[in-house]
Amino acid sequence: MAIPAPPGAREATGPAGRPVPELDAALVGRWHQDGGELVALLTLVRERLGGIGAFRPAPSAAPTVLVTEPDAVRHVLAHHPDRYVKRSHRARVLVGDGVLSATGEAWQNQRRLLQSQFTGRGMRRYEGRIAAAARVTGARWQAYARTGEVFDLGEEMRRFALDTIWRALTGHPLDPGTERELASVAGVVAALPSLPADQVAAQEAVAADIARIDAVAERAVRTARDGGAGPDGPGLLHVLVEASASRPAYTDRLIRDELVTLLVAGHETTATTLTWLYLLLDRHPEAREHALAAGPEGSAERQQAVQALVHETLRLYPSAWILPRHAAAADTLAGHPIPAGTDLLVCPYLTHRDPGLWPEPAHFDPARFTTPGRRPGHPGAYLPFGIGPRACLGLQFALRETTALLEQLLPGPVPRFRSRPERTAYGLTVRPDGPTPAVLDGSAEWPTAPMR
Ligand code: HEM
Repeated sequence: MAIPAPPGAREATGPAGRPVPELDAALVGRWHQDGGELVALLTLVRERLGGIGAFRPAPSAAPTVLVTEPDAVRHVLAHHPDRYVKRSHRARVLVGDGVLSATGEAWQNQRRLLQSQFTGRGMRRYEGRIAAAARVTGARWQAYARTGEVFDLGEEMRRFALDTIWRALTGHPLDPGTERELASVAGVVAALPSLPADQVAAQEAVAADIARIDAVAERAVRTARDGGAGPDGPGLLHVLVEASASRPAYTDRLIRDELVTLLVAGHETTATTLTWLYLLLDRHPEAREHALAAGPEGSAERQQAVQALVHETLRLYPSAWILPRHAAAADTLAGHPIPAGTDLLVCPYLTHRDPGLWPEPAHFDPARFTTPGRRPGHPGAYLPFGIGPRACLGLQFALRETTALLEQLLPGPVPRFRSRPERTAYGLTVRPDGPTPAVLDGSAEWPTAPMR
């Protein structure tokens, strides 16, 4: 489907064909004057040019192509991942050659090994660990309800997500010392978008934090090598260590990179999703009641309704809100030539807010995901976990852990926010920009059953 260039759009140059329409430089200039937030520019491109549009963030920069139209999204992510590749320059500072940033044959081998751990039987191994981490958070919330203590809800969600992934990786619950040291991960993730493009300079800027993370990783790998399975049995780390016996690629360095990759990819995304979910429920208390009324505790109906809360939250706030790609070869995208070397941004955040796909897109309505025919049938219209061969490895894990925690917490007292973040930060992830202090009403009844 070709998208005609609307009036006021300039055209980017490229090989023969009808070039991708480009946003007028005057509009980009105005955007700079208005504060220069990337999300504002992308929204403008989407509004003015439709589902495929180009912009130059600076007059001398080459055009970057924004892709939000579902067919084009599928073309880039699912049908031609060989032509549109990841380049993860800055992420490499933290995750090295882990599966998130690896490419080519190395990525294929790494992905294959991990995939078996995150589906079917591999995944069932984590059920008990996820439930245990949810119980720990539940017990903490019971204490908050008893004492009336103010706690930070976002921080609670981060602790839960980190504990869950740590148990999956090592077989051990997260101890307070390791938890403190791993606070550096969030610091580096927040710093990544503004690090210098030069690898050496970028590494120097976050060297102290990386050293702390490396020390934790080294200890965990050593314990796994010494056969130190945790109380819940061996973790994913043991699978990586075992792999190193027969596959020379799995050096200690690569095992460290995979460990840090899974820690990074597997906790910030889940934690921000759960934080958004509670902020949304604060505005839509009826959605919580509806989910709890869908069926008794442990029923498939309750589980489905709770998952719908997660999906609707991910529609409005897909943590990975932009998926950058680089054209490794020339291509034609929806009738437009894409020269080799073009940078592209697939943007689930804007696709999920397209009124042509999602009626009343700004409205929080979990029933979209429980009522047949309410969500668009196009596979490129909803992609919080990405699509295609590089889609999220932890999709099942993320859905399981978010649902397990919510099934535990939702029947209890409702958090009342003392204040709410006024802004949204659009960095590597889309997250509430500020603290989320809350209290739990201790006089409300807390069912004892889920705490067993
Ligand atoms: C709500 C939670 C999550 C969201 C929204 C999410 C989203 C995503 C998205 C959109 C991608 C694709 C990125 C791209 O195409 O550029 C991705 C990749 C990935 N995710 Fe997740 N994720 C979540 C949770 C997790 C968890 C819990 C884990 C691990 C346990 C995980 C591990 C990964 C890995 C390893 C990749 C890279 C896969 C590859 O490149 O082959 N994610 N995630």
